[in-house]
Amino acid sequence: MKQQLEAIKLAAVEAINTASDEKAIEEIRVKYLGKKGELTAILKQMGSLSPEERPVMGQLVNEAKQSVEELIAEKKAELSAAATLQKLKDETIDITMPAKTAKVGKIHPLNSVLDDMIDIFQSMGFDVVDGPEVETDYYNFECLNVPADHPARDMQDTFYLGENLLLRTQTSAAQIRTMETRKPPIRVICPGRVYRADEVDATHSPVFHQIEGLVVDKGITMCDLKGVLEQFAHEIYGKDTKVKFRPSFFPFTEPSVEVDVSCSECGGKGCRVCKGSGWIEILGAGMVHPSVLKCCGIDPEEYSGFAFGIGLDRLTTTRYKISDIRLLFENDKRFLEQF
Ligand code: DAH
Repeated sequence: MKQQLEAIKLAAVEAINTASDEKAIEEIRVKYLGKKGELTAILKQMGSLSPEERPVMGQLVNEAKQSVEELIAEKKAELSAAATLQKLKDETIDITMPAKTAKVGKIHPLNSVLDDMIDIFQSMGFDVVDGPEVETDYYNFECLNVPADHPARDMQDTFYLGENLLLRTQTSAAQIRTMETRKPPIRVICPGRVYRADEVDATHSPVFHQIEGLVVDKGITMCDLKGVLEQFAHEIYGKDTKVKFRPSFFPFTEPSVEVDVSCSECGGKGCRVCKGSGWIEILGAGMVHPSVLKCCGIDPEEYSGFAFGIGLDRLTTTRYKISDIRLLFENDKRFLEQF
């Protein structure tokens, strides 16, 4: 039994010395000192010894147990200190490392041009209003004096969602909603998305952006229209930009104009951007048609107004010299990060 005890003790000491972590030490403790452990088992065999041998053997076993316990405690302390040291080492922060730069989002070029436009119009006393992108035929066409047989109603131009429901083709629809809910004096702009069943290419997209403007009050004339739009063009393109009003036609305005600005790329000499003409068209406008005022319950004998619709996408591509309108909608980060 003595030899057996020696062998167990030797094996335990060997195991403790080679244990590499706290988990291994715990396994050793259970193996030798646990309830079913090898040293405990030896104590249980004491009954087979003679009464003289029993206390001698008992003492030896207890001594062995005690020294194994001590060794285990020592090793445990040693391993735990080493583990703490390792952890500290692993978690050391190298303050000389370069910091990670946080990526900050950019303002989309369409939004930054829109923000500038809103600033300009707000400084002239305009409110910003919103209108729905899903519209009825009434707001998008009928009340805007677009007769039922007008080509703009053709399925090729308009995305219909139902017989009377469509994706608005122009922010002009917001004019009607505004005149229905506000009393003159009215001075609003309505920026937003519009939709047309156009083929996609470098200058066309089935979704694009307009900013509608509407002014209604007593005594509003074409001079007010010219003053406001000239001021706007000068603020957006610079004081030296020339502004040209050309007669045009829109069903909801009479008279109607289209407004061109001198090409900012070539200064009016003619280039690829302005297709050689020296001018770039930026908006349509006119005096609100009396039928439109009437349709909204405003007396055209008492009130008059002007309206305009500016294309935001063209303004953005010319300002930033973006060659393809599709870039504005693809949301490619490599493109957007440049602004
Ligand atoms: N709605 C027109 C279009 O999409 C633009 C426009 C022209 C708006 C004249 C107006 C306006 O308010 O008076 O082409």
